Amino acid sequence: MSLLKTTDTPINAKIVSEKIKNLGIEDLGTATIRELVRLVNEIEEATGEKFVRMEMGVPGLPPSKIGVDAEIEALKQGVAAKYPMIEGVKLLKEEISRFVKLFLGIDVKPAHCVPSVGSMQGAFAAFMVSCRRDPQKDTTLFIDPGFPVQKQQHNVLGLKYETFDVYDYRGDKLKDKLESYLSKGNISTIIYSNPNNPTWISFTDKELKIIGELATKYDVVVLEDLAYFGMDFRKDLYHPGKPPYQVSVANYTDNYVLLISSSKVFSYAGQRIGTMVISDKLFNREFEGLKRYFSTGGFGYSMIYGALYTLSSGVSHSAQYALAAMLKAANDGEYNFIEEVKEYGERAKILKKMFVENGFEIVYDKDEDEPIADGFYFTFAYPEMTASELLERLLYYGISAISLKITGSEREGLRACMSQISREQFPELERRLKKFNEHYKKN
Ligand SMILES: Cc1ncc(COP(=O)(O)O)c(C=O)c1O
Repeated sequence: MSLLKTTDTPINAKIVSEKIKNLGIEDLGTATIRELVRLVNEIEEATGEKFVRMEMGVPGLPPSKIGVDAEIEALKQGVAAKYPMIEGVKLLKEEISRFVKLFLGIDVKPAHCVPSVGSMQGAFAAFMVSCRRDPQKDTTLFIDPGFPVQKQQHNVLGLKYETFDVYDYRGDKLKDKLESYLSKGNISTIIYSNPNNPTWISFTDKELKIIGELATKYDVVVLEDLAYFGMDFRKDLYHPGKPPYQVSVANYTDNYVLLISSSKVFSYAGQRIGTMVISDKLFNREFEGLKRYFSTGGFGYSMIYGALYTLSSGVSHSAQYALAAMLKAANDGEYNFIEEVKEYGERAKILKKMFVENGFEIVYDKDEDEPIADGFYFTFAYPEMTASELLERLLYYGISAISLKITGSEREGLRACMSQISREQFPELERRLKKFNEHYKKN
């Protein structure tokens, strides 16, 4: 309790400190998301108080009905009895190919569009292949902040990685910074998410061009994680076949694999399906190094019949029909999936203002010189407080978030996720933030 200025907190201070102590983690700033979820569940249970939960990125909207209906229909038709093809059902592959043409403006053959068990598995498989193309190139470069579990995937695969926080290297500065890593010759793969988890920064076209051109120059593969596809709400990105499109590195290099999750954008996280889109050129390339692990050196062949085969032998049959139906409706102009998730941006807009009015600061606040979009996440800090102190103190005020420390950020701050907080909780959140600010503001 030494961290606290007062025990007059919205949540019983004795219980909170007991629960934190029981968790046995010295520095809460290093706790994983799932550990925090457990801690907050326990505090809620012991105190009977509801937290404003902003730690975990679960979708907070109902699943797409189009997907659910198609999945039920597929099950009734008996697909559950049959193994799906590892490369995905034809119908789905065709719709993915159409989708990337209509919403990204790029051409990729259906054969090179492959479903995965969520983007989580897509990334895992991509690391298994992309990071093993060449024994000299044995390291991945994370443009951080990033999604922590992808580093865990490296650890369990025994792969090396390097990382830097992009905060100080936006715009033209990105070029020299990237080149300082790539010119060493050990980088196989670059990974980032766009819009970014945890900060919601979005790379500009200029930055993507820099990344793409350097990837070609140094023959590095870019894994572009589009888990929040189309969710940069500053522009309306739903008009199939017409610009503006979701920005992508695919416009600037042939060395790309795109990971498109259906968890957030279609609120379909439970069914664990995402897509992997491999550039036509990269799919067909041969790499000697791959023969150490797979039966051939073919990039795409190794991905499907090497990596995905060993991981799960394909994706749940019914979920593939669900995704095919959702993509078809989106492609046909009948399902504005972006409109459905705009609620996250609306929430962020209100909450950012509320945090700032109560003494907090937004940490990652700009894309070059433009304010970042309002979306699924934002990052915040409180003056003169480390991320760990802030995270711990906020628990006494019934507010939970995760530390940026676990995301590869060098800034002291926390990530707030917009999905679980409902609008009815806004007044209570405001009261709690006000109280926090009353207790901690310096005069
Ligand atoms: C950046 C990023 N990549 C990948 C994922 C995982 O996506 P999926 O649910 O499709 O496995 C997430 C989910 O939070 C994410 O934020």
